[in-house]
Amino acid sequence: MIYQKLLNFCAVFLMIAMLPNLANAADAKSGKTLFLNKCASCHNNSMVADMTGPALYGAEDRWKKYPGDIYKWIRNSVALAATGHPKATVMVKWADSEMTAFENLTDTEIEDILAYIQVKGEFGCVEPPCQEPTSVAAGGAGAKSEPMNPMYGYALLSVLLIAVALLGRYINTLTRLSQGKMGAVVSPEKSFFGVIFNPSVVKLLIFAGVLFGGYSTVNNAIGLGRQQGYQPTQPINFSHKIHAGENGIDCQYCHDGARRSKHSVIPASNTCINCHANIQKGSKDGTKELIKVYAASGFNPSNNSYLPEDMSDADRTKVYKKWLEGMYKDERKEDEASVSTMIQEQLASVEGTFNRPIEWVRIHNLPDHVYFNHAQHVSVGKVKCETCHGEVAEMAVVKQHSPLSMGWCVNCHRQTEVQFKDGLVEGKNSPYEGDANKANKYYSKDYGYYEQYHKEMSDKKREGVTVEEIGGLECQKCHY
Ligand code: HEC
Ligand code: HEC
Ligand code: HEC
Ligand code: HEC
Ligand code: HEC
Ligand code: HEC
Repeated sequence: MIYQKLLNFCAVFLMIAMLPNLANAADAKSGKTLFLNKCASCHNNSMVADMTGPALYGAEDRWKKYPGDIYKWIRNSVALAATGHPKATVMVKWADSEMTAFENLTDTEIEDILAYIQVKGEFGCVEPPCQEPTSVAAGGAGAKSEPMNPMYGYALLSVLLIAVALLGRYINTLTRLSQGKMGAVVSPEKSFFGVIFNPSVVKLLIFAGVLFGGYSTVNNAIGLGRQQGYQPTQPINFSHKIHAGENGIDCQYCHDGARRSKHSVIPASNTCINCHANIQKGSKDGTKELIKVYAASGFNPSNNSYLPEDMSDADRTKVYKKWLEGMYKDERKEDEASVSTMIQEQLASVEGTFNRPIEWVRIHNLPDHVYFNHAQHVSVGKVKCETCHGEVAEMAVVKQHSPLSMGWCVNCHRQTEVQFKDGLVEGKNSPYEGDANKANKYYSKDYGYYEQYHKEMSDKKREGVTVEEIGGLECQKCHY
């Protein structure tokens, strides 16, 4: 009975401990969605660069002097400025355009947006493995958006356990007292340690420990060398969202290896020059990245030609300095000093990279003992890039979407049907585009392979053929 009570207390305690968290945690992830839908048309999603509206990183701090007013501002900036609010009046002068009113945003929604602004500005993203929290405690002055140290969790748990033990003892005493009053036979009171080291409690603890230890060991061992979610910072801030997404450039324009070879290959910097000979300007921060492309490919954007191979680094620097000065001509007139520093910074950022391949950080990487072939999947299997790589066209920074584990390959081979021309066009789990012309001739009846399957299909004994059934689970197909 005492354990029943202990359990109840445990549950109540946990609930109480979690309540303030639930109430306070602003969710940067839902803030992200809100921001992208409502604010990103004017405010740069990098949070640190201006667009139509100012960079929002640190906005909450800038409004700290006027508690709560940032909420009023976001709901209706014009109305707030009309009241003569000092910060708002100054702010509306920032741009010719004025900010849309968002009367319907709730406090929580605004909190979420502000949390997202803070996390995004500080870490550059909201998803792991940036290791920033998806939730940050909002409100409290100086609320820091650092990931919570797991040690705090353990400490909290220990405190809770001790509290529960003490409470249990207290209840025990009370029960015994009342039992005593009613004249029942009272067993001798157990000591505190007696309760804690009660054999069944000890057994339970050992069991939990073994379970947890075993689970994490196995988990870590399997995950060794694997890196789902891996999203390294690249030497050039190249955005698939801008290229494949907003500008609709075909994946295979750059990754043309995917169609015809084992590897998809990362495009050489000359591929970039095909377009960037003419497109020399991006967003404010984007332009700063383009000089890196030119430096790496030995390209002179001022006169659209390649620089001589034997040109010295010092001379190359001069060429790019001249180009940058031209680029920032207009800004220079207004703010000579800061533009000069910016030019110096950009030249420094390309030092030592002249005429060298860009050192992209490799993201996907199967172990050496595995054979994987892009052409087999993309050209023969008609599997779309997104099925394995996720919505790359929406990624500003590429992230490994799939686990790349053996289980992942094998599961797909079990479930996915290959395209047998006469019989099946669109299998039920098929990622193909359902176009009969795209079916693989190799599997067609005319080729004479897989007669058995064709017969079963025309006899309506089978609906389709999975990769597994053509041998896709044989070890040597995937292993050298
Ligand atoms: C139509 C464009 C537009 C949209 C949409 C927009 N803003 Fe603004 N925002 C501006 C402009 C422009 C300013 C500068 C002040 C002004 O001119 O009104 C500004 C200023 C701000 C400021 C003050 C910044 C500071 O440093 O004090 C905050 C905070 C802000 N916006 C938040 C938001 C949020 C949150 C959203 C989405 C819910 C949003 N804005 C949507 C254009 C926009
Ligand atoms: C304009 C050229 C270009 C286009 C178009 C393009 N990519 Fe890329 N892709 C790159 C470059 C450059 C890199 C290396 C830098 C990086 O990781 O962002 C890359 C990297 C990748 C990676 C990670 C490679 C690794 O290291 O493991 C994947 C996956 C990828 N692209 C898939 C796609 C898909 C899918 C599309 C179409 C939706 C696409 N790309 C369109 C240029 C391009
Ligand atoms: C098929 C044409 C094409 C190719 C190839 C191409 N780009 Fe771009 N790139 C664009 C367009 C279009 C823009 C958008 C320019 C704008 O915003 O006005 C852009 C913008 C950029 C920007 C600025 C982004 C920003 O924030 O404004 C960078 C950096 C960039 N590209 C790098 C690269 C690199 C690196 C490569 C080679 C791996 C490459 N591009 C290949 C068309 C291309
Ligand atoms: C069936 C799943 C699958 C499909 C479909 C697929 N990929 Fe991949 N991709 C992978 C795997 C697995 C790797 C890691 C390969 C390795 O490490 O050898 C990879 C690696 C890459 C790389 C890194 C360079 C390389 O080849 O190792 C790029 C770039 C890439 N893929 C682009 C693409 C593009 C573009 C498409 C569509 C045209 C595509 N992928 C379709 C699974 C897939
Ligand atoms: C999204 C589903 C999918 C995933 C994930 C996938 N494959 Fe495949 N794979 C296919 C399809 C479909 C085919 C059949 C292509 C064809 O029609 O020949 C195939 C065929 C193959 C073949 C040739 C099999 C044969 O019998 O000829 C090999 C080898 C292979 N895959 C290896 C891999 C490896 C290694 C991985 C994991 C790194 C993987 N695949 C992940 C869908 C997938
Ligand atoms: C469809 C492709 C595919 C097939 C079929 C396949 N494997 Fe694998 N296997 C993989 C991939 C991918 C990995 C790498 C997993 C990782 O990096 O964790 C792997 C890893 C392994 C490992 C190393 C252990 C590990 O987790 O890294 C062993 C051992 C192994 N496979 C054995 C086999 C045997 C035995 C078979 C036949 C019964 C087989 N595999 C069939 C794709 C395949």
